[in-house]
Amino acid sequence: MGYIAGGYQVMLLLPFTFLLFGLLADANKRRICGTFIDESKIEDMERMFGDLRLEAKTSAGYTQTIYIDLHFHVIYENTTLEGGHIPDQQIKDQIDVLNTDYGLTGLRWRHVNTTRTQNPEWFVQVGPDSEPEKNMKSILKAGEASALNVYSVGFRSGVGEGLLGYSTFPWDYSSKSTLDGVVILYSSLPGGTLAPYNKGRTLTHEIGHWLGLYHTFQGGCRGQGDFVSDTPAELSPAYGCPNKRDSCPNDPGFDPIHNFMDYSDDVCMREFTAGQISRLRSQISVYRGLRE
Ligand SMILES: *[C@@H]1O[C@H](CO)[C@@H](O)[C@H](O)[C@H]1NC(C)=O
Ligand SMILES: *[C@@H]1O[C@H](CO)[C@@H](O)[C@H](O)[C@H]1NC(C)=O
Ligand SMILES: [Zn+2]
Repeated sequence: MGYIAGGYQVMLLLPFTFLLFGLLADANKRRICGTFIDESKIEDMERMFGDLRLEAKTSAGYTQTIYIDLHFHVIYENTTLEGGHIPDQQIKDQIDVLNTDYGLTGLRWRHVNTTRTQNPEWFVQVGPDSEPEKNMKSILKAGEASALNVYSVGFRSGVGEGLLGYSTFPWDYSSKSTLDGVVILYSSLPGGTLAPYNKGRTLTHEIGHWLGLYHTFQGGCRGQGDFVSDTPAELSPAYGCPNKRDSCPNDPGFDPIHNFMDYSDDVCMREFTAGQISRLRSQISVYRGLRE
């Protein structure tokens, strides 16, 4: 192709190299949420919730904003960013993202405190149902069923290795109150290093579980799925931001890839449905004493 000046070659090659690395990084890291519940437990929980919901007479619509206290706990290994020592500004930006994403739900997040704890073992090893998790939460957890505790950690090894986050469900509060809360990867906050999962939507998603929502792909194409009637059935998680995916072709609607409770990239997520909003408001009324 003839003559190319040295400088010009570099300019052509550099963007290509970055693109390659970008693709490799995406392929290595896929969203994995560690919030898990047995199918058999779901049936029992949903039957119980149905009864309690009737008793509580929760209504579909709402007029009042509900404020929820949020306690943020930074767990770090050392005072560098890679060591988990995230700046206050990222935490502030994260709360702003939450208040935007939850705008239509009528919930508002009130950041009451940040604690910072240097503990390499917790930073590396905390994961669902682990000993480090129990130690961490029994020391740091603040507030009652109506308050949200968020912990940022590194998920480097052990049962939590590779997770972006996980949460407890509202119905487990009465039996496991100390464990209540959300744990997220420190680099998933807005401005973090975890592209394409660095716009704060990991916490939006995990809080969805904390408010009683399942994944949109829960149950696949079978049965009641996520127990919300206006989220189309979905066979498996969506990644990236696919165009008109339809993984349950016999059911109405395309996959809800823009839903906060799917696995899409942060930029692709943008909504809770009316059905999800109605469900989460009933859930927190019944299990967290949060009502108008
Ligand atoms: C801080 O911790 C991170 C994460 O383990 C590690 O990669 C880094 O080398 C540590 N830095 C210092 C200065 O100790
Ligand atoms: C707020 O955080 C500080 C540490 O940053 C801690 O000493 C204090 O107990 C916390 N207060 C509440 C109300 O949780
Ligand atoms: Zn999840």
